[in-house]
Amino acid sequence: MDVTVTLTVNGVARTVTTDPERPLLDVLREDLHLTGTKYGCGDGRCGACTVLMEGKPIRSCVTPVSLADKKGITTIEGLAEGRSLHPVQEAFLEEGAMQCGYCTSGMILSAVALLQNKPNPTDDEIVTAMNGNICRCNGYIKIKSAIRRAADKMRR
Ligand code: FES
Ligand code: FES
Repeated sequence: MDVTVTLTVNGVARTVTTDPERPLLDVLREDLHLTGTKYGCGDGRCGACTVLMEGKPIRSCVTPVSLADKKGITTIEGLAEGRSLHPVQEAFLEEGAMQCGYCTSGMILSAVALLQNKPNPTDDEIVTAMNGNICRCNGYIKIKSAIRRAADKMRR
């Protein structure tokens, strides 16, 4: 039976009536038309679908939408302020830390969560925090450089 779920997405209250077991990813992409969050593996192993729930990274492909009821969700569309990109977005661009870009929104959201908790992470802490985000283009070196650059920007 469908239920009504109210969630705040990128600061805007949204209400959807749907199957409570439906993945949050599907609701974001199909109902709310926020297609920056990507479908990769669909079972929690690649990180392409990462969004923040109450500031913590989650895999939206394996998160039933009912768990997002009354929660705050941040997607890649919610990071920029007006025409100003988030420092992590800027750093990914400046380092060229993307090829096909399919993993990029998930990478950026995971990096934002990391830097909120650890403003000056070591390389090992970056690798550990980003461990669940897979880049098929193997862009890990540039992604790590971008996260270091973003950390510098955010501390300034
Ligand atoms: S699509 Fe969600 S973890 Fe791969
Ligand atoms: S840039 Fe292609 S999967 Fe990461």
